[in-house]
Amino acid sequence: MDETGGASGALPARRGTAPGWFVCFEGGDGAGKTTQVRLLTDELERRGHPVLVTREPGGTRLGEQIRDLLLHGGHVAPRAEALLYAADKAHHVDQVVRPGLAAGQVVVTDRYTDSSIAYQGMGRGLGRDEIRRLLHWAVRGLLPDLTIVLDVTPETGRLRRGPVHDRLEAEADEFHAVVRQGFLDLAARDPARYLVLDAANPPEEIARQVLGRLEAVWAAAAHASAGGRRSRLGGIPTSGERA
Ligand code: TMP
Repeated sequence: MDETGGASGALPARRGTAPGWFVCFEGGDGAGKTTQVRLLTDELERRGHPVLVTREPGGTRLGEQIRDLLLHGGHVAPRAEALLYAADKAHHVDQVVRPGLAAGQVVVTDRYTDSSIAYQGMGRGLGRDEIRRLLHWAVRGLLPDLTIVLDVTPETGRLRRGPVHDRLEAEADEFHAVVRQGFLDLAARDPARYLVLDAANPPEEIARQVLGRLEAVWAAAAHASAGGRRSRLGGIPTSGERA
């Protein structure tokens, strides 16, 4: 078995409070997130890892109802929009993500909190820090172990989305350009927890890079946990809190 557990399906222990791993895909509309979620989870399942695939908004019954209100209803005032997305996340994290992590699953979500920071905080102009504070409360500070940003230009995103648009997709290219920059800024602030990939590359190539990075994260965790056992002997605390 290798350090990442590739051969047997065993995963290295996380150093946070829950044994599972939390992986998020983010990016503009038309970036190809859904394809990448599928390619990653297919491969993880093939390797025998326990995987939980989910999405925001959605992932729960209430979340799907909120999704419908947000994407296919009438006008929603920007602050109401931010609160509805936050409500979806609060419920989703409580009902799906944390239980999955507690059960040792690799939880892979199509969008998470960065989408709210980029779309509502930046796109709607509600403010990155205000939205961040709202979300921190909503999800009780749960951070992903790895966030993959699929970077897409507004033009490419629009072409890929085709003629049918939901409420957010129907926004002008200028809106999507601000959102795109929002994702890139978030990634630039914390490169250790992010992987930014050009969504214009072939899907199989992107999937290879995603898997490579996840394997590196797991290898580092396995290494740290071996080192942690050594440092505990020396009295150095090793537990890292994820949330
Ligand atoms: P998608 O799941 O098909 O990408 O559609 C979800 C839409 O909702 C997409 O346009 C991005 C938007 N969105 C936000 O504006 N804020 C959020 O917090 C999330 C999760 C999605």
